Parts: sequence; C-alpha cells; structure tokens
Amino acid sequence: MPLTTAFVATLAIFGTAILTNADAPAGAPPLSLFPSPWGQGGDYGWDAAYAQARAFVSNLTLVEKVNLTTGTGWEFDRCIGNTGSVPRLGFRSLCLQDGTVAVRYTDKNSVFPAGINMAATFSRSLMRRRGEAMGAEFRGKGIDIALGPVAGPLGRVPAGGRNWEGFSPDPYLTGVGMFETVTGMQSQGVMATAKHYILNEQEHYRNNVDVTIDDRTMHELYLWPFADAVRAGVGSVMCSYNKINGNYSCENSWTLNYLLKNELNFQGFVMSDWGAQHSTVESALGGLDMAMPGDGGPRGSIYGAYWGGALTESVLNGTIPAWRVDDMAARIMASYYKVAAISGNKPRPDINFSAWVPPNVTVGPVYYRANASIEEVNLHVDVQADHGALIREIAAKSTVLLKNKQDKTLPLRKPARIAIVGDDAQDAPGGPNACVDNKCYKGTLATGYGSGPGNFPYLVAPATALKKRAAADNATVVEAPNNWDLDAAQKAAEGADVALVFASADAGEGYITIDGNTGDRNNLTLWGNGDALIKAVASVNNNTVVVLHTVGPVILDYAAAHENITAILWAGLPGQESGNAITDVLYGDVAPQGRSPFMWGANISDYGAEIMYTSPTPQAPSQNFTEGIYIDYRYFQHAHTKAVYPFGHGLTYTRFDFENLTVHPFHGEGAATAAAPSKTTTRPAQTYGVVNSSIEANEAPAAFKGIKPFVYPWLLHTNSSLPKWLNSSTTGDNRDPRTNGSAQAVLPAGGAPGGNPGLYDTVYAIGFDIRNRGTVNGTAVPQLYVQLGGHDNPWGVLRGFDDVAVAAGERVHVEMNLTRRDISNWDTEKQNWVITDLQKYVFIGRSVVDIALNSSLPALKL
Ligand code: NOJ
Repeated sequence: MPLTTAFVATLAIFGTAILTNADAPAGAPPLSLFPSPWGQGGDYGWDAAYAQARAFVSNLTLVEKVNLTTGTGWEFDRCIGNTGSVPRLGFRSLCLQDGTVAVRYTDKNSVFPAGINMAATFSRSLMRRRGEAMGAEFRGKGIDIALGPVAGPLGRVPAGGRNWEGFSPDPYLTGVGMFETVTGMQSQGVMATAKHYILNEQEHYRNNVDVTIDDRTMHELYLWPFADAVRAGVGSVMCSYNKINGNYSCENSWTLNYLLKNELNFQGFVMSDWGAQHSTVESALGGLDMAMPGDGGPRGSIYGAYWGGALTESVLNGTIPAWRVDDMAARIMASYYKVAAISGNKPRPDINFSAWVPPNVTVGPVYYRANASIEEVNLHVDVQADHGALIREIAAKSTVLLKNKQDKTLPLRKPARIAIVGDDAQDAPGGPNACVDNKCYKGTLATGYGSGPGNFPYLVAPATALKKRAAADNATVVEAPNNWDLDAAQKAAEGADVALVFASADAGEGYITIDGNTGDRNNLTLWGNGDALIKAVASVNNNTVVVLHTVGPVILDYAAAHENITAILWAGLPGQESGNAITDVLYGDVAPQGRSPFMWGANISDYGAEIMYTSPTPQAPSQNFTEGIYIDYRYFQHAHTKAVYPFGHGLTYTRFDFENLTVHPFHGEGAATAAAPSKTTTRPAQTYGVVNSSIEANEAPAAFKGIKPFVYPWLLHTNSSLPKWLNSSTTGDNRDPRTNGSAQAVLPAGGAPGGNPGLYDTVYAIGFDIRNRGTVNGTAVPQLYVQLGGHDNPWGVLRGFDDVAVAAGERVHVEMNLTRRDISNWDTEKQNWVITDLQKYVFIGRSVVDIALNSSLPALKL
C-alpha cells in the first residue's frame, strides 16, 4: 500500500469523529482524539513479557489493576514513588527512585559522572558500563524502577538547568547515550525510565509552559533519542511537566498515543513526572499509565488523587473503557517481566532503605508521612562494589583538553612548585553532603543540584589528589582557596612552575535557587568570581592551566586567546573521583579522550535560542521553538558564527591522521525506502479478566484499616453519585473516539520498538584508516557527519563516532555504518522518514569544523 493511502486509511480507522487539531502541529494529522494504543508485545523480549503480564493481569480485580497504576502518595512509602501492591497475590509495590547520577537519598552508593560527561567520552562501551554499574546499585537497594536516563532536556538552550543530566544537544549522541545506558541498567534487572518526555527544555515555567513545535523538528531533534531508548526496550517513559502544542504532556494524545505508543511502538508504560498529571479521564485516554506520586487531584476530590478510586469509578461509570486500565496494568507488568527476564529472573531484593528517613538513621517509619510502622528501614546495604575505579576511569576519559599550548603544556613533567587556586579545588566545609540535593554551592563541583544527585560516599577534591601526587615528586604546593581574594591568588601563583586555577558553574532543577539561579543559569559566566580569578592568576603566571567543572558551556574567549593561559581542561561533573581523575589527566597517566558534546560560544546570543526567564503571560506562558532544527552546532553553522571551541573538539597528547576513505552503498533494490511495517493494523483492544461492577467488589472490605493519608484504589461515594456507575456499561461509551478499541492502523514509520525496523538497516559502510603520528599512545575519536543535501538541512549532522585506541606510530582501520534513519529527513505530509534525492555527503572529522575526509554518497536504488 503506498504511504499516502496508508495514511488515509490510518485516519479512517481512527474514526470520522476527529474534531480538533489542538495538540498536533501544523501539517500533522489531527490527533486530539486518538485512542491510546494498547500494548502488543513484539520482538526484543516483549512477546514473552506480555504473555506473563496478561496472565497476571487476568487474575486481578479492577481495584488491584488500578492499584498498580497509582502512586500511594508523596512521602507515604519508602521510595520517591511507590505504586500500590497486590497483597492477595504476594506482589509488593513497585519502588521508583531517583536520580540520574546516583541512587538518591540513601547511603553506601556511588556518585557517577553526569550524563554530559558520558556524552563527552564519545564511548559506547563506557556508557554501557556506567549503565550496568548504576543498574546494579539501584537493584541492590531493592528498587524496581530507576528514574533515568535523561534525553529531555536535549539542550536547546545552553543555560538550561538540567542539560547536564542529559547527554548533548546533538540528538544522535544523546540517542547513543540513551540506548547504552538503558541497555546497561536493565541488564541488572532494573527498569530504566527515559525522561522527561518531551520538550522540557528549561526550568523557568516548567510546570505550565506551552511549547509550540513543528513536526519535523520534533522528529529530527527531540524525539530522536527517545526512539533509541524505546529501541533499547526501556521499561518506562516519564512524561514531563510542560504543555506541547496546547495540551499537557501527560495527557497529550499526539506525543503519547500517536508518536510514542504508535509510531515508536513503545510497549512499556508512561509515568507522570511528580505532579505532572492534571486530570483523571484526559490523562487516561491521553496515554498515561502510571500516576506519580499519586496524591493530589482536583480541589475537593473525595479521592485526594486524580486516579486511585477516581480511576476505578471512571471505569465503572463507562467514561474510561476497561481495556484502557487493563492496558495500563499490562504495560506495567510487561516491563516488569521483560526486565526480570533479562537479568535471569532472580528474585527481587527487598526495599532496604527509606528515601525519607535520613541515611545515617536506621530505625524509622516505613510509612513516613503517617509516621507509622516503625522498624529498621535503612539497612545500609553497600552497593558500591568496585564502581569507584570505573568512575575514575570515566571521569578522566571524559575530560576535554580544550587548549594545550604548542601541544606541550600538558602533561605536566614533575613541576617543582605548583599553585592550586580556587575553591573549586577544595573540600566543601561540612563535607560533600552538607546540603541536601546539593543545594548549596561550596567546594569542588562534582555534580549539579536537584533530584539528580545522591549522597557522596566520599568526594576526592582536586587539591587532595594533587597534593598527594606532588608529594611523591617532592614538589612544593601553594594553595589559594578563596576566589574573592585575588591578591592571595596572585601571590600563590607568582613564581610557580604551573598555576592550576579551578573554577566552576553550577545548575540544576528549578525548585532550588542558588545565588539567584533558579535551576537554569542566569548567564554563561563562571560562578564565584571564577573569571576574575582566572584573569588575575594569568596576569602573573605565564603557565596558567585552567580546570573547569561546569554544567555546560561558559564564555571562554578571553582564556582561549590569553598568552599565559597555556592549557584549558573541561572536566564537567566528574562524580566522586574528581580529584584522582583530573590528576591522572594532568600528569598524563590517562590521555584525555573527551570531546566537547556542545559548542562553546563567545556570546550567549551565538546559540540562537535562549531561556525564557520572564513571560508576558505568566499565568499561561508559551514558547515557540521557531529555531526548529537549528540548535547548538547546527545553529552556529547556519548563522556562520565561529565558536571559541566547537562541538567534537578535544585534544590529546598525540596527533591522529585520517586517511583512505571508502564508501560502499548497500547494493539492493529498494535500498532508498524502508519496507512498510509487516503488520498494518493492530488487533482490537483486549480486556483481561472480568470486571465485577458491584459496589461491594470495588469498595474497601469492611475490615480494612487504611493508613492515612494513603491513596487507595477503592470506590468512595455519596448516595447521590451511586446510580451512575451501576447503570453504565463497562466497555466505554464509544462516543469519544479515544474510547474506540477497534483495530488501529500501524503508522508507516512504526511497526517495532524505535519505529520501522527498516530505518535501522545499514545502507552504507564507511571505511577509513587512523594513523597515530605521535610518540605516545592515544585514543582517537573520529566523527562522521552527514550533509543531507539542499538548503533546508544543517551543514552536517553527527551520524557516527567511535573511540579508537591507536598505539604510537600505528595505523588502525575503522568501519562505520550508516542506516536509513541516518540519511533520512522527516516528511510531515507523508508522516514518514524519506531519503530525499538531494545529493548527500559524508565527512570524517576531529570535530564539527576540523574535517579530514569527505566524499559524496552515491544514490541508493529505489
Ligand atoms: C521531578 C523531576 O523532574 C524528576 O526528574 C524526578 O524524577 C521527580 N521529580 C521525582 O523526584
């Protein structure tokens, strides 16, 4: 069936009653009333998982199903989020826990390098290994669902508060980060959560900003890395706080039903960000499957929640079809079984910590807010294993050597007198956990603030590690820790063989404000007088080495140009081994292999898009992402703006040549078009088990004693509301097309997790050689960029990379594959990926501007 016909058929199956186009972008089909696709099963382990999930859910009563979908309430139970349980079948509640760099609110856990550092490694294997290690730590604490990794924010604006939790403003790099992290985490038996879906690009107004976006930008930028997470089999996706094209993310039929569950064929469940749910029926029909943290709800609601008993009531009165709730439960349980199977179905550990009872206290309430059931809640289970070594390796390898004057400032060669300048080199007073959620800015910066971090087991400050190293060389160290005492800084630096200046810039989640920065940064300058400190030191020492711990780019033009600043290192947010890792790099024990995962502009305006700090309509703030696909390097190149340091840039202690480029197209008919998905329609929605619609079956048993103020799935009612649910059908009233459970069309771009499997077929093999021309071993990071042709595409987009160890004087051959997806554009009218017939090119570079090899791509056969 040709694509256009398929598309018309799609609309026909969705029903003729499609009324509005409120949540679909211009040019895309009207989607407001699109039914929520039901889980199908499928490849990558989903068939087996759904078989188990259907069997389990078929045994449940309606209230038991609802109990799985609804959190028990904020601070009511042990974890950051807890679903209800099924005591009759011995199924305990699911435990959901932050964060993105550590298990939050516990002890004896590790603090890992941030997502932005993972992107800087450009290393799939390190991304995977961090995912495995983090997954093992969550699992060891008895957690079922880890609330990470992050692909939203993607990094539209450089000052975005949570960019560091994600990977990079480049969707391909972030997509690889998502794929590897999800795969690694889930291999340990923990469900991962791809968050925050979608367009949660800033913290200001995050709760209600309405983002307008076009369909092409959605696909080519923001949705892209979520597709990789879905392809990796991610168990859950967290919908975000903001609105998209008029509708809240957690009830947005376009983003949840059409894009995520149909086009991307997501088989797991959608959970709300904490408090991001705004309705009972709209969210259920709009594609939400799990409400977190569960309590809240409309003012005056007898349920104290949007779901819980309110969901039960909505099923019984026919507003929400029974198949929708069955699908919620089946999706949750399918993810549970799928991930359990990956890890060999080992029994899940008990939850052995409380997020609310301080980690240094052992005994406390299980039900914290109710102060009930006092027992040993914090069992202090040590889950760190040998992760410290991995953290040190990643932190060192993700360090980006931005500048190294005449290629010889670094590595250090046993300097006799060393100055260590800046508070960022030092321990924080009170230790690294003095401020919960990292909400004060003191001492060396090893992670950002908000729900992402956790307690540090220890934090090696740079000064500690450097002094140890210097002592081994009998070197003298002079320290100047006070950023505001420029005289002391200069005094320490004068006469030193090398002056190491440490400076930082922090950011985080918007519920915390530090020094006037409400999550998002107010600007791109260094914090705590950092720029003045660097300039003061550089004015007296002609071997000034700058080390930066920042959440993203800062304005560095002065330092890049400064004669006396001989080296600049960006160490990002390295986690607990910070000092050891930077010492490894400074002394050359580890050759830096980090490459910048973002552009370093000379002005904040060079990035095009900026944070909306104030809105003319603060009650209903809105933003239009008019820059479209042009963010970060795509925008710089489009605007012909030179960066201080470009995306992909990073030096090492040797030099690599790239040679002998070869391009082999896939020689098959039809290479230029992915075949339509094998199934063109789904089966009709199914219900599992029988709903007993009597009141007694859905009310709390008389003997049941609840814990106040837990959210329960039971019906509550007044006499006047009683007949409503008794007289209605349980199958939906079918007047609202979203309740239509008949077979749906599979979208042409869909068909399997991550989208049409044909998108992931290799269509070109690209080969080249790398030669290490230096005298030391090193790791090259060749980057493959594709120019998709014409005037409507960025100069080039990243579509391949590798970290390749090459010994001094050696040559290594590298092969990279390009898939159909890699060379496609999104066609809004066709609602599909298309390979245009525009001439395309491939480039191999050391960065987005340092291109060594290029070739045109021969056309593929239709
Ligand atoms: C809100 C944050 O946006 C999300 O990332 C986090 O997982 C939840 N709070 C739970 O803490």
